[in-house]
Amino acid sequence: MSKPKFSADAHLQKVYSTLIDEINYHGNRYYVLDDPEIPDTEYDSLFKTLLAFELQYPDLVSSNSPTQRVGGDVLTAFKQVRHVIPMLSLNNAFSDDEVIDFAKRINERLSSEVQHYVAEPKVDGLAISLRYEKGVLIQAATRGDGTTGEDVTNNIKTIHSIPLKIVDKSYPSILEVRGEVFMPIKGFSALNIAQKKNNEKIFANPRNAAAGSIRQLDSKITAARPLSMYCYSLGDTSEFELPDSHYERLMLLKSWGFSICKEIEKLTGIEECLNYYHGLEKKRDKLSYEIDGVVYKLDSIMQQEQAGYIARAPRWAIARKFPAAEALTILEGIDIQVGRTGALTPVARLKPVTVAGVTVTNATLHNQDEIDRKDVRAGDSVIVRRAGDVIPEVVRVVLAKRPKNTTPFSMPENCPVCKSDVVRLEGESVSRCSGGLYCEAQRKEGIKHFAMRRAMDIDGLGDKIIDQFVDEGLVQDVGDLYSLKLDMLKGLERLAEKSAQNLLHALENSKTTTLARFLFALGIREVGEVTAQSLANYFGGLDQIKNATYEELLLVDDVGPVVANNVIAFFKQDHNKEVIDKLLAAGITWPDIVVNNKKLALSGKIFVITGTLNESRDIIKNKLRSLGAKVTGSVSKKTDFVIAGAEAGSKLQKAKKLGLRIILAAELNDLFNDPERFLD
Ligand code: IVH
Repeated sequence: MSKPKFSADAHLQKVYSTLIDEINYHGNRYYVLDDPEIPDTEYDSLFKTLLAFELQYPDLVSSNSPTQRVGGDVLTAFKQVRHVIPMLSLNNAFSDDEVIDFAKRINERLSSEVQHYVAEPKVDGLAISLRYEKGVLIQAATRGDGTTGEDVTNNIKTIHSIPLKIVDKSYPSILEVRGEVFMPIKGFSALNIAQKKNNEKIFANPRNAAAGSIRQLDSKITAARPLSMYCYSLGDTSEFELPDSHYERLMLLKSWGFSICKEIEKLTGIEECLNYYHGLEKKRDKLSYEIDGVVYKLDSIMQQEQAGYIARAPRWAIARKFPAAEALTILEGIDIQVGRTGALTPVARLKPVTVAGVTVTNATLHNQDEIDRKDVRAGDSVIVRRAGDVIPEVVRVVLAKRPKNTTPFSMPENCPVCKSDVVRLEGESVSRCSGGLYCEAQRKEGIKHFAMRRAMDIDGLGDKIIDQFVDEGLVQDVGDLYSLKLDMLKGLERLAEKSAQNLLHALENSKTTTLARFLFALGIREVGEVTAQSLANYFGGLDQIKNATYEELLLVDDVGPVVANNVIAFFKQDHNKEVIDKLLAAGITWPDIVVNNKKLALSGKIFVITGTLNESRDIIKNKLRSLGAKVTGSVSKKTDFVIAGAEAGSKLQKAKKLGLRIILAAELNDLFNDPERFLD
């Protein structure tokens, strides 16, 4: 087909982009600012003009045209996206006192007293990171495990309140904007009515509906869902003069066309923060979206940087949660679950009860001490609490309703699964089965952990199938999974031939993974995803981790004496070595660690940061780590690079003396954009 005659005509291009800008402007007034300037009919007519134009000049159609919000190709799976700066979670406070403690803690830590806080509604949806390059939305990702999320760009583009292109002259050429995608309550009710009519799934609450809508492989379905997004922070951002105030940054985002929650306020002192919470609690039912609390953040970015982070949460922010929903029900019995590490957890079997829209049938009782403290017995009437995603728990017993002849609970002396002795070490609250890998429950849990989405991500290998594999003796440990053959799976109760084939495919696909996932999947005690990632980043290879000494392990972020010993103990055991060999022989591999499709260019390089820099140290550290580098605190012969900011002192001098490569603040952008240039 020949191209339309005028396709390259600059005049046409100009007409087209002016029309897009005009519609985007009115779209922003309507969807973001809730303050339309023109009647809906006029907006519709502009839109129709655009559609007609695009029909006539199809090769001019731009991916950031508002007509592209209708959804497009159907995907088979979401791609993974590694976050350059991790997406963190928040620590919680449940009372005024806990918020006051937060303020005290932070003031003790900082060199100057906190003046202003920003209080924001804690919107109940799902966190999304939007990446803009040269002002155009190029990628949107879910939070995932905080380090790696899923690429949901096609779905996010269907949300009208998210700009496809930034309408302003000045913005950073790389800009990541983070916030919460949610479903307004009205839209949620309408969706459920429609779902019911069509005999489709009913969503328990707006958060589930929003999350379900974003995880659609067919973006046309997402396009039909009423979603919105409130932005609340920045992620990876290229050099740009940003205000030193969080509130001002939000206002800047607003001027770039992003939607900022109207209830956000800049406050002075902690007293105002407490009042804000109580005010919002009263207003909660009148809001058009669901919230589960309030988030307080230090307004000063400089103070945020000084405060820093603990594990996966910032020290400079806290979430004050609304009280959790509670309900009364009967505790019918106490079951014992045996976990991957042999820990015995008592679980309350409940008469089903609805708490905040979700049916609850069991609740954790944690351990014997907890049961003794609450004096929980089978047959009791209990108050059950459920807060957001948290596992429901038994709050207390209603003693007045206790039936006669109840007996106090005590942990069994033998494992309910393998009958081995149960041991409880002195000073520990956990009772454990001593059966180790002899215990079927522990083996099953180990395999379930291995198959998990956040670990080896073996689609279709659910809990029930794993139980069956172990019960039938097909699989003893994770090493056996990859020897499964179609004829071995034939005739299994829960597995039709098609599902069996899919499972074998999924196993095959899972063989290409990442070192961090593999490490996490192995189930080394207390090595969660974050620690696994840190180990992978630091050492770069499995052999290096296997052979690492205690002292070396301690150099890794998040690794303390307990984890270091666990890692060493794990790799010492012959059984574990055999399983790992079996897995590697089956073909499990991981490519060199990659970020945004770039090989980790700074793998193994040791950096020291000194002096004052424009960007926060934590951000620079994260960027370096995501490129594979290691960041240490003191300069030595082993150091490869020293990043020197303003007023760098003795470390810089030492670096010069040792003849180390020094990187100045002005070179940082180049370092992150093209790290290879810095390697000889
Ligand atoms: S700030 C580093 N602000 O809460 C700080 N989070 O529990 C990261 N959320 O994953 C988050 N409203 O999904 C922040 N105004 C708000 C929020 C908010 C909702 C969610 C977000 C995050 C989770 C953390």
